[in-house]
Amino acid sequence: MSAGLRLAGYTRRYAGLLLLSVVLMAIMGAMTAARTLLIKPVISRVLQPSMDATPEPIFTIPLINHTIYLENLFPASIHNIFTLVAISILVIFLVRGACDYLGDYLTNYVGFRVVTDLRNQVFAKLLRHGADFFESNSTGRLMSSVMSDIERIQTACSDMFADLLRQTFSLIGLMIVVFGTDWRLALFAFLLLPFIMIPTAKLGSRIRRTARRTQDATGELNEVLQEAISGHQVVKAFGAEQYEAGRFRAAADRLLHVNMRKVLLQGIPSPFIELAGAFTFVWLLWYGRTEIQRGQLKAGDFMSFLLALLFLYEPFKRLTNLHNIFQQAIGASEKVFGYLDQPEEITSDPGAKTLKGFRDAIAYDGVSFQYPTAESKQLDDVTLRIGAGEIVALVGPSGAGKSTFASLLPRFRDPVAGAVKIDGVDVREISLASLRENISLVAQETFLFNDTVAANIAYGQAGADKTRLIEAAKAALAHDFIEQMPQGYETIIGERGLKLSGGQRQRLAIARAIFRNSPILILDEATSHLDNESEMLVQKALANLMTGRTVIVIAHRISTVRRADKIVVLDKGRIAEIGTHDELMALGGTYHRLHELQFAVADTPLDL
Ligand SMILES: Nc1ncnc2c1ncn2[C@@H]1O[C@H](COP(=O)(O)OP(=O)(O)OP(=O)(O)O)[C@@H](O)[C@H]1O
Ligand SMILES: [Mg+2]
Repeated sequence: MSAGLRLAGYTRRYAGLLLLSVVLMAIMGAMTAARTLLIKPVISRVLQPSMDATPEPIFTIPLINHTIYLENLFPASIHNIFTLVAISILVIFLVRGACDYLGDYLTNYVGFRVVTDLRNQVFAKLLRHGADFFESNSTGRLMSSVMSDIERIQTACSDMFADLLRQTFSLIGLMIVVFGTDWRLALFAFLLLPFIMIPTAKLGSRIRRTARRTQDATGELNEVLQEAISGHQVVKAFGAEQYEAGRFRAAADRLLHVNMRKVLLQGIPSPFIELAGAFTFVWLLWYGRTEIQRGQLKAGDFMSFLLALLFLYEPFKRLTNLHNIFQQAIGASEKVFGYLDQPEEITSDPGAKTLKGFRDAIAYDGVSFQYPTAESKQLDDVTLRIGAGEIVALVGPSGAGKSTFASLLPRFRDPVAGAVKIDGVDVREISLASLRENISLVAQETFLFNDTVAANIAYGQAGADKTRLIEAAKAALAHDFIEQMPQGYETIIGERGLKLSGGQRQRLAIARAIFRNSPILILDEATSHLDNESEMLVQKALANLMTGRTVIVIAHRISTVRRADKIVVLDKGRIAEIGTHDELMALGGTYHRLHELQFAVADTPLDL
């Protein structure tokens, strides 16, 4: 299905309103045509009052050959020709204006509604995409697509659509006048038309292609902008202002280039049409003069014909322009629909089970994983059983695959081989919502929203219980610093929590996980930003949090993991060692080495 048709499908819910606006615009078009017909009585009767007072034929409707007389439209008591014409003019302009305004309002309403629906749909779809999608599409480009591609569609759907109806009906009305007055003359007048229409249509597809390139260039610009803004500290610290400005200038130049190309192409049809119009006019004037001299044509008829033809110029010109804008909108909607149609990498099966609580064990069964862009496997045949209520620590060198391992449980990614199971059920057979409801995550990179402290702790749960919220903050040792903030729990913490220290951010993230109160907990370097003293406190908080839960804790600091029931040493995507702290120390392998290294460099002895 073409993008245009598909876009039109979105108006289905508003079909009634759309129909009404079409009717209003049709009346408007009829009034536009009627306007030109009134020139006849003006020339033949109003300006020459001495002429005989025979009823004035206004127009013979083609095909049914019904002639409309001005006098027939009014009660017999009004017969003064000036009054007739004057009232007609006022009524026509009044009705035309009212229909135009209302029709315009309604089409705009439908257009904006359609675009709002589309925008919401795109956002909802965006959220359903998996990690791979966000890794392969940059924020700047996605933002540009969601905002400006849709903006383009919006222009076409609201303003431009109203204009399309307006101009189309004016065109139809005026065409009826032109052909009804003298069809031979009309045919002569339109002789040049194909020479305008064919090249214009060809230009359209080229304009569509440039419009798409404009989008890409805008996306690129947004990408640089977004990165420079969110990375402003790094930019300053590395004195890279010139470098970023250069990147921006290069992207802006590319945008300028494609924009100018678009303007170049877009401007071509207009002068073309004007020139053809001038030729036609001269040609008609000559023809009209001869016919009037021969008595074949009345001056009044010829005048309304010419007037209608002049008025036709506007719809023609605007419609070719509109054609361009619609071409661009279609280009943009192809892209937006492309996003909508992109399959989601991670979805719930239609018959997915609901995970109700968790009783027995999490099992990784021969799990292998490889990032789509990676050369080799990041997890290689990992088998591990984590019993309910167990605390399992993952340790190992950086890049060993610890975060990757944890991301398979809430299905941020799916393994390429093997399976992750909860109570014997493959996580791919569990509905995503219920799976994730059972897992709380404190990620390696905490993300906080530019909202109040309270909203960040009770993230995604409107109207959460305040006392539970404070309990969670207390358990995460965040309550004290929150109280000291200007508006306490109602303080807005800035984009990504920038108004907080690294450790405070981490404690808020922990509070958020505590508040969620799910049976399974994943802590990825949850205490890495804390000093030894706070870490000790948070360890206590975490100890409270961990009781009665199943925990996967990832940490570089050996002190953090010492108390785990089971320590798993990952190395290059494989499990190197498994055991308790004492067992692994006795083994004298990787864990022992990591332990020795840490204590060798640490000035302060860590003990818990
Ligand atoms: N999105 C990604 N695309 C491609 N490769 C990735 C991606 N994320 C991680 N990797 C690679 O996968 C490997 C494992 O990464 P992972 O984040 O799991 O390591 P980690 O053990 O958590 O390390 P750290 O202790 O530093 O957090 C690394 O070699 C990394 O380069
Ligand atoms: Mg990691």
